[in-house]
Parts: sequence; structure tokens; C-alpha cells
Amino acid sequence: MKIDFVAADVAPGASAALAVLAFEDGEYSPAAEALDKAMGGALKRAVGSSRFTGGMGQSLTLPVPTGTTAARVVVIGAGKQKAFDEKAAESAGAHAYNAAKNSGSDVLVLAMPGAGPDRPAHAAYGIKLAAYRFDKYRTKEKPEKKPSVKSVKVAVADVKASAKSFKPLATLADAILYARDLVTEPANILYPEEYARRVKKLSSLGLEVEVLGEKEMKKLGMGSLLGVGQGSVRESQLAVLQWKCAKDPNAAPIAFVGKGVTFDTGGISLKGAEGMEEMITDMGGSAAVVGVMYALAARKAKVNAVGILGLVENMPDGNAQRPGDIVTSMSGQTIEVINTDAEGRLVLADAVWYCHTRFKPKILIDLATLTGAIVVALGKDLAGVYSNDEALASNLMAASKASDDVLWRMPLPAQYDKLLDSHAADMKNIGPRYGGSITAAMFIQRFVNGVPWAHIDMASTAWKPNSSVPTIPSGATGFGVRLLDRLSADFYEG
Ligand code: BES
Ligand code: MN
Ligand code: ZN
Repeated sequence: MKIDFVAADVAPGASAALAVLAFEDGEYSPAAEALDKAMGGALKRAVGSSRFTGGMGQSLTLPVPTGTTAARVVVIGAGKQKAFDEKAAESAGAHAYNAAKNSGSDVLVLAMPGAGPDRPAHAAYGIKLAAYRFDKYRTKEKPEKKPSVKSVKVAVADVKASAKSFKPLATLADAILYARDLVTEPANILYPEEYARRVKKLSSLGLEVEVLGEKEMKKLGMGSLLGVGQGSVRESQLAVLQWKCAKDPNAAPIAFVGKGVTFDTGGISLKGAEGMEEMITDMGGSAAVVGVMYALAARKAKVNAVGILGLVENMPDGNAQRPGDIVTSMSGQTIEVINTDAEGRLVLADAVWYCHTRFKPKILIDLATLTGAIVVALGKDLAGVYSNDEALASNLMAASKASDDVLWRMPLPAQYDKLLDSHAADMKNIGPRYGGSITAAMFIQRFVNGVPWAHIDMASTAWKPNSSVPTIPSGATGFGVRLLDRLSADFYEG
């Protein structure tokens, strides 16, 4: 989406939708007040005779208004004026886009003079996130089915200041959209080697990218990760991304490890047919890691960061791993694979071990679409976070609050650890049915070796089939990118 800032006195074109903000308790933005005057009071009259109260997300469209050159006026509810901060501006911008996108207008002009430079920038950021589409495989969509709005102009008092304020937000949005693209891409296109190739291209941002194939991983003893991929004709990969821009080049990095199962059939413990297509999103954790590394590099963050992606496809062919197989992980610990559908933790066991033995990070965060149990526990709006370190947990909760990628703290009760004991190996890969997200986290904990660690189970939030969040169109959310970018910016840079 093309988004520009323009001077407030530029008249909107004849086909434009002109959006102005109105607040609760009968308060109007300066642009809405001025427009109402130009319209001879018609704007407020229209509001008065409707159910529009200015609540966030409400909108009222006035067609062919007099007093403006625009084709239509859209009044956007922006909530309480006192509460109109940057986050509210982001939502209001997204709502304005969503209200106008199918109106027939080709341009949306969002009038925000008098809102300072930063709130219009955040509104533009909200619009960029809301306007995300994944159209590359549509060959026949009729133009009238596509959004009519092709570009957005945010009218502001100080064009330069808003453009400057928007710049870092636009880059962050690019990183989020990049993660959404990865998640949405189907598994016949995005298999581990192709994923690794795409990530290699990010070296243009200044990231160092290495890719390990099966031969290298075998040498390292990654029997746990390799066992998951052995039933697929696609070769498993481990991608290692590094960003080194801290003042002290030798400072211990912050590290992110992502589950990158490009498709999860369940393996021999095959999943049912219903909804299996959603398992193209089973690399959502790794996409969040790619997204945050993208964001850190694009804004030249003063931090040393490592991102590791465990890339495998979980398929059930003649060479696939069987329930009952015992594999040896890179840590030396052996695992009895009771259920081949509990594959994410097997991938993470080796990726996490590799990460802390090679990089000695100061914190290690893994992200994974790990369990259906977290969806049952928390529903579709919250991701679960587990941690062995109170400082890291509190930093993550603060970043969660600031970024709107919502986390809910989950427990690691010591007495559940024995639920993973195996009759024949050091552990088995699943516990009993109840508490499934917790025992999955505790499985990973056996591979962190005491490093300050957090695990984010985001099976609940990677994909929203019916989104009601204005900045998230239905589908891939890009969950985790802003969270981790914020975590780095607020706690680990300098
Ligand atoms: N990828 C799934 C988890 C998942 C479920 C992701 C729903 C997104 C939406 C994971 O690999 C899995 O299959 N987990 C099993 C674990 C079970 C076998 C212990 C599950 O949750 O059913
Ligand atoms: Mn699975
Ligand atoms: Zn999975």
C-alpha cells in the first residue's frame, strides 16, 4: 500500500474518500469540525441522526457531500479523546482504511492535522498492517472484488515530521508483513530448502546467514531434529541468522529460536483430514524469528542478536520415524518418540541446544506453534509464555503490553517433569493429555541447560481465520515480530 503524508490544505480529489476522526462524548477532531462547517453542519446532523457515538471502530459514511471535493466523507470513531494515544491512532487508521477500502474510492485521505506528528505516523502504520493482502496466486479475481482504495494520503500539519516519525514504523510493518508472507505461503512452495534460500536473501539487510544441511546436522548429532524430517523427501535445514551491532561486538547475544515445520501432517501419528491445511502455518514461530531479525537489521539496532530456524517437513513416508523409535539428541539425551505429531519439541530440542552451546546467549527465547492444548487453555487471542527466569519473564510481559502481541504467563510446575519419564529412554516426547502445553514446555526445558529462557507457545495466535483486530486481516498475523522488536529495544540495546 502506497502511503504518503500531505499538507492539510490540499483538496482531496473528486474520487477520494475523506476520513475524519470523531471521539466519544460529542467531541470532534479539528478536521471534522472544519469539515462540518464547510458542509453547513451536515456532518454533525448526520451523526446526530445515527447510532454513531464515536466509539473506536464505528464509522459513518456520507455519500456525495457538499462542501468538499471528495466523493464521500467517512467519519471514524476514535474512542475517548483523552485516550487517543499512539496505539489508538494505529487502530483508528486501520479502521479508516477498512471502512473505505471497498467504497469505490481509489484514494483514502485521512485528515489528522492538529494531532501532532506521531499519531498520524501511527495511523499510517495501522493502515499498512490493515492493508496486507496475499494475492500472488490469484489469477482471476475481478477488479470489483479487490479493494478500490489503492493509495492513502494522511493529511497533517507537518509533512516532514510525520514522515520521519513513520519511517521506523514502516520498516517494522515491512518485517511483520514479511513474516505474514512466510506463514501464508503454501508448503509445496515453501519447504525447508526454499525457506533457507529466501532467508539467505536477507543478507542484503546486513544479516549474516548460514544454512546447515542434513549432513552437517548429522555430524553435530542432531538426531532429534533429523528424525522429524526423515519421512519427507525435502531436506531438513537449520538456518542461523546473526545481527552484530552492539557497542561491544563480543557481548553475549540475545537469541531467538523458531519452530519451522513447513508442513505438519503428524507423520505416522497422522492428523485427521479436517483442517490439516492449516498446518502450513506450523512454521509461524520461525517466521516471527525471521521477522524480528529483519526488523533489528533494518533499523540498525544496537544489539547482538541470533535467530535460529529449525526447518523440517513432518511427513509419513516409508522412511518416516515410528512411534516407539528412540532418537539421540545433540545434548546426548535420548528420547522415546511416543507420538510423531509431537514433532515441534523434537526440532526445538536440538535447535535450542545448538543455540546455547554455540552462542552462549544472555537470554534464549523459543517460539513455536507447539500445541493444540494452548488454544484450548487461552483461546485465539493470547499466546502462552513459560520462563525459568523472572527478569526475562517480566521484560517479556512489559514488551507484550507495549506491543499488543498479548502473552499470558503459564507455569512450569516441577512435579510435572516426571510425566515425561520413559520406560526405556531418558524421556518420552509427550506427557498425558491434560496439561499438554505445559509438558511440551517442560520437555524443551530439559534442553536449555539453565540458560535464562522463555518459551512462547503461539499455536493460538499465529493464524486468525476470522480476525476482528483492525490491523490484522484474516489469516497470518505476524505474531511475535513486534513483541520481540520491542523487547530488544526496551531492554537489551545500547
Ligand atoms: N503443530 C501442532 C500444534 C498446532 C495445533 C498448531 C493447532 C497450530 C494449531 C503440533 O505439532 C501438534 O501436532 N501437537 C499435538 C501434540 C500432541 C500429539 C501431544 C497436539 O497439540 O495435538
Ligand atoms: Mn504435530
Ligand atoms: Zn507441529
